Amino acid sequence: MKYVLALDQGTTSSRAILFGHDGSIAGVAQHEFKQIYPDVGWVEHDPYDILTSQLTAAVEVLGKARVRPRDTVALGITNQRETTIVWERESGKPVYNAIVWQDRRGAPLCKELADDGAEDTIRKKTGLLIDPYFSATKIAWILDNVKGARAQAEQGKLAFGTVDSWLIWNLTSGKRHVTDRTNASRTMLYNIVEDGWDNELLKLLNIPESMMPEVHWSSEALGQVTTSLGLGEVEIAGIAGDQQSALFGQLCVSPGDAKNTYGTGCFLLQHIGDKFTLSNERLITTLACSVDKKLEYALEGSIFVGGAVVQWLRDNMHFFPSSSDVESVAASVDSAENVVFVPAFTGLGAPHWDPYASGLIIGLQRSTQMGHIARAALESIAFQVTDVLHAMNKETQQPFRELRVDGGAAANDMLMQFQSDLLQLPVRRPAVLETTAMGAAYLAGLAVNFWSSTEEIAKLRGQDTVFEPKADPKQMEARQSKWQDAVKRAGGWNK
Ligand code: G3P
Repeated sequence: MKYVLALDQGTTSSRAILFGHDGSIAGVAQHEFKQIYPDVGWVEHDPYDILTSQLTAAVEVLGKARVRPRDTVALGITNQRETTIVWERESGKPVYNAIVWQDRRGAPLCKELADDGAEDTIRKKTGLLIDPYFSATKIAWILDNVKGARAQAEQGKLAFGTVDSWLIWNLTSGKRHVTDRTNASRTMLYNIVEDGWDNELLKLLNIPESMMPEVHWSSEALGQVTTSLGLGEVEIAGIAGDQQSALFGQLCVSPGDAKNTYGTGCFLLQHIGDKFTLSNERLITTLACSVDKKLEYALEGSIFVGGAVVQWLRDNMHFFPSSSDVESVAASVDSAENVVFVPAFTGLGAPHWDPYASGLIIGLQRSTQMGHIARAALESIAFQVTDVLHAMNKETQQPFRELRVDGGAAANDMLMQFQSDLLQLPVRRPAVLETTAMGAAYLAGLAVNFWSSTEEIAKLRGQDTVFEPKADPKQMEARQSKWQDAVKRAGGWNK
């Protein structure tokens, strides 16, 4: 038996999943790692935590599934996007912690860029809105604030990478400094029309081009793993940012195909084909995975806090010991009563793009219990997705007929039913929720001919669960507008 190994390096945990030829999962290993919050609005990871948790999971899954390293025919990597690591080429040592996608420290520089009128240029070249979410201002911050970094960068001694680049650099003993187009498109430095690092943008942000990785297609043999950690010499053959990977894993490969992933954040992506189109609804345009080696685009609505609101209740408020307990705590009450929870812990993404918005819980009364807050937290995830889906409908003028979902929090039946009620649309959940890892496995497997085509892969999909709307549409509309009222109140609070 032969397998493909997928590494899914996410915001809060590193996972390794082994897929068989029939698309079934032969094993899963997962390690959470430390989140570092050095200041208000700052979020960091230790790059070595990322690396060791990921390598440990990879070796562990082979042992758990009793698979020999030489029986893995390819390795696919998918990762939290935008998170920025800068390291010394010579020693391989990071000069600073990884600055995580949720980190807002680039907000003042973003404001300067916007005040200088750069918005239009950036949008037309990268498809993105100016926001500290993307890698560019994070790299600039490191060069401006880490002692000696700028001088080293100017001498060509530093390398930048998103998490995929960092992992591959280490897996290949520093031989390959690469990324793929989907990750490059999240940096605010990659021209997604002309397909290359953009000199004008690099100059604008004062970032030397010598720091940037070589950019590849998402499904391409890139070289073998050379670490002697028990992974063998498996070929690295797939790379994709996690949301584009999930889009591919759901086989959304034609214009109009869309999915929403409920992870740490929530990300609604719709494939829009091979024409670069900009949104009028404050959505972003990004590169999708392509197996034909031609540029393909997606529209994206990025929500910064999705499942993370449940983690916040667990870790910061100590509401329950395990995230899966949220469903029973929320079910202990019939409704959220009047409570609305806006989890803008790291500002708001689409369609608001407000780095200064803050979290807000409103509607508290003498009768409010833990259950109401837990329920409002779950509901906040669905409210945000509904706002983004409506923006996407307005943009494309081709209303969704159903919503395909995946990601950890999609396992929550209460949330999926509420989502369907709010949208008044069927919500379609696949049998295997690991579509992010599956996307990376498919990309790698296709590159080495483990699978021959997306048509062959389509036959591997199991039985979906469909949630149909049950609630009164008028009532749901009223709740959505109450939510929007609360969102307005959270806006700009941290300015
Ligand atoms: O853009 C950020 C995104 O890639 C994070 O994904 O799965 O860690 O929530 P996730």
